[in-house]
Amino acid sequence: MTTPALANPIDAKALERFVIQDCGSCHGLTLKGGLGPDIRPQSIEHYDPEILQSVILDGVSGTPMPPWRPLLSEAEAAWIADYLLKGEAP
Ligand code: HEC
Repeated sequence: MTTPALANPIDAKALERFVIQDCGSCHGLTLKGGLGPDIRPQSIEHYDPEILQSVILDGVSGTPMPPWRPLLSEAEAAWIADYLLKGEAP
């Protein structure tokens, strides 16, 4: 018996690298902002995790924030939203 979640488990190490490299290219390597805004916990704590997940999956149209749905599963985007809110990024 396999579920999609088990067939494609969350790889936390790979996602962490992805956030630093891919998100960091716009939001800064420490996520404190660059081309994109500061996305450290103090800047995004007013958002529900579901909102952040949909921003990550669908981007912000009319801005450089791209949709990541082609690259990330919903579970991975939820993981990243949680990771950002917890402030575990270096
Ligand atoms: C090509 C540049 C670029 C990349 C790459 C990028 N972003 Fe963004 N991001 C932006 C911009 C610009 C905004 C601001 C959009 C706006 O004006 O509302 C934004 C907005 C956001 C917001 C909303 C912040 C807020 O306070 O409203 C979040 C959360 C976010 N990005 C997360 C991510 C994550 C996670 C990744 C990696 C999966 C990522 N971004 C990759 C450019 C980028």
